[in-house]
Amino acid sequence: MAKVVLKGVEKVYPNGFKAVHGIDLEVHDGEFMVLVGPSGCAKSTTLRMVAGLEEITSGTISIGDKVVNDVPPKDRGIAMVFQNYALYPHMTVYDNMAFSLKIKKTAKEIIKQKVIEAAKILDIENLLDRKPKELSGGQRQRVAVGRAIVRDPEVFLFDEPLSNLDAKLRVHMRVQLSQLHNKLKATMIYVTHDQVEAMTMGDRICVLNSGRIMQVDTPLNLYNYPANKFVAGFIGSPAMNLIEGELLKENNNIYVKIGGGKLKLSAGKAEKVQKHVGNKIWFGIRPEYISTRNWESKEEGIKGKIEVLEHMGNETFVYFKAGGQQFISRIDSVDSRVLESGNEHIFIFDMENCHIFDYDSEENISL
Ligand SMILES: Nc1ncnc2c1ncn2[C@@H]1O[C@H](COP(=O)(O)OP(=O)(O)OP(=O)(O)O)[C@@H](O)[C@H]1O
Ligand SMILES: [Mg+2]
Repeated sequence: MAKVVLKGVEKVYPNGFKAVHGIDLEVHDGEFMVLVGPSGCAKSTTLRMVAGLEEITSGTISIGDKVVNDVPPKDRGIAMVFQNYALYPHMTVYDNMAFSLKIKKTAKEIIKQKVIEAAKILDIENLLDRKPKELSGGQRQRVAVGRAIVRDPEVFLFDEPLSNLDAKLRVHMRVQLSQLHNKLKATMIYVTHDQVEAMTMGDRICVLNSGRIMQVDTPLNLYNYPANKFVAGFIGSPAMNLIEGELLKENNNIYVKIGGGKLKLSAGKAEKVQKHVGNKIWFGIRPEYISTRNWESKEEGIKGKIEVLEHMGNETFVYFKAGGQQFISRIDSVDSRVLESGNEHIFIFDMENCHIFDYDSEENISL
């Protein structure tokens, strides 16, 4: 197994477009690293550079202790699984999985042993004689993964491998791939634009935007301590409320002034942001920290008008407007019974769990 290290990696495509702006990233040996970000942020470009399918313009990539900038893909010790599986339609599942080993002139007995072992791990032993067109989407996906496993790669690279599957199957395969990682303990780099996949599968997540790394951390750290407004808005569903506001000081307290009123910061947060008093800021608060129930203490509230209630069963998303600004709150369904759209209500903000972002740099100034 091997770690993967990117240092100052840049990519300028032949048409002059700079897709990657100096990425530094270390994927630990045996780690499941997820690259996540919106469409066009250079997830695939980055992964393809690690695979050697795309040249890098500057910087270095190493796998294990070896710089691989000039090493061809087949000698990098990697195996890549694509979104569209790319199975050979005329070959059986067995032959699809055996193909790369046959090319390497591996002995027949060893090929057989490896294919069967991989098929067992993926629970597709009974499908080995079928052709790809006789398989479901999830089964094809498992064959594609099997083809990677038989090569015993040091590093697995996945580019949105589940995005062609329906929602239920995606959840199932997500769990299977996590189990596979636990079993093989291989280094895996997994690209997705789906933040739920990122949160549930990654040991760590690298959030990309426009060819730059926004933050690398564990899923929970990204969720609880987003370094900037982009990460705050990207990780979490429904997304964090991000509201334009201003910091005010009154009677030695610091307040966030937003359209609907002002909300007092906790002493800890106030201390962190004090040199920004008077400035415009972005006020961030996750939907679960706005409620319609009073907390015992510290409660800070504003009046809002309920626009839409989305009943999810166990919880309710409450869309409301206050001072011309749009908010979403996520509350227990029991508490939502008394709410009606069109009504006004006091919404309580748990200010201990809010975030303040500098208006211009968008950095989190409240951590
Ligand atoms: N061959 C190319 N020539 C020029 N620009 C390219 C080329 N391939 C990709 N790009 C551009 O580079 C940027 C990154 O593309 P990339 O495919 O890496 O994005 P991505 O994050 O994988 O997006 P998606 O989620 O849509 O798959 C995009 O703006 C894209 O238009
Ligand atoms: Mg892509």
